[in-house]
Amino acid sequence: MAAVITGASSGIGKAFAERYAHDGHDVVLIARRRDRLDAVADELRERHGVRVDVIAADLSDDSAADRIAAALEAAGTRVDVLVNNAGFGVHADVAESDAAALSRQVQVNCGAVVAMTTRILPGMLARRAGTIVNVGSTASFQPVPHMAVYGASKAFVLSFTEALWEELRGTGVRVIALCPGATETEFFETAGEAAKTGRARGADDLVDHCLRSLATSKSSTVHGFENALVARVLPRLIPRKLMTAIAGRATGLPAQRPADAVAG
Ligand SMILES: NC(=O)c1ccc[n+]([C@@H]2O[C@H](COP(=O)([O-])OP(=O)(O)OC[C@H]3O[C@@H](n4cnc5c(N)ncnc54)[C@H](OP(=O)(O)O)[C@@H]3O)[C@@H](O)[C@H]2O)c1
Repeated sequence: MAAVITGASSGIGKAFAERYAHDGHDVVLIARRRDRLDAVADELRERHGVRVDVIAADLSDDSAADRIAAALEAAGTRVDVLVNNAGFGVHADVAESDAAALSRQVQVNCGAVVAMTTRILPGMLARRAGTIVNVGSTASFQPVPHMAVYGASKAFVLSFTEALWEELRGTGVRVIALCPGATETEFFETAGEAAKTGRARGADDLVDHCLRSLATSKSSTVHGFENALVARVLPRLIPRKLMTAIAGRATGLPAQRPADAVAG
């Protein structure tokens, strides 16, 4: 039984890896920074005595999912949990953004989620067991001016996951979209505190919330009561244009400030 976690070199992905290792799963850690992955792997092996494999891969590369699937097969890894967590955002207006960076964002946040899911799902279906967690965001629920591609990419994750949930009914395979609000990770080291909307919560608390939600039949879950109100209730009460304007106000780029590239 192994949990495969993308974006496991820091933040939310690292917290998932710690939890699954603590619960006795072998884990496979995926991200670009091999040194960081190796450090996480050493810590998990020492603390939990589980098998930890590291696959250094850039998920903006079209061929990454095939290479990861081949590495998993070569290692004889049976995947019972897939956490599609790797993702990043670009905090800038579209007109000011680097086109290649926006394409990479779509590939990592959307393309890699689909690519990893399609590589791992057949084995889960054959065993009639498995769990897939796709990390969305409170940004999944409304357009996000100044982080337009990020918001659209997270809306994709939510829509993809909810549709997949319906397709997987009765198969024994469980899928959920986990939608965090602001969470204390490296996201804000690069984004700056200005990108933080609302109180930031802990990544461990988010993972607890996800595991509790997986015990229900939900297709998606928002972390935090206030976040759920803003993400799920407010859009039903006010017009979408107003909701978009509010989101734009929350993520607004101060005048004269150079656009920041952010990871998270
Ligand atoms: N923190 C928040 O407030 C927040 C809120 C809502 C949703 N989220 C979502 O949570 C997820 C995790 O983010 P985080 O907050 O934990 O931020 P983080 O600490 O910056 O972690 C991002 C992870 O994604 C990996 N990654 C980024 N680009 C990659 C690429 N091209 N190929 C492979 N791996 C890549 C990074 O590893 P390498 O750099 O080593 O590749 C890192 O492990 C993201 O999908 C993010 O959108 C975060």
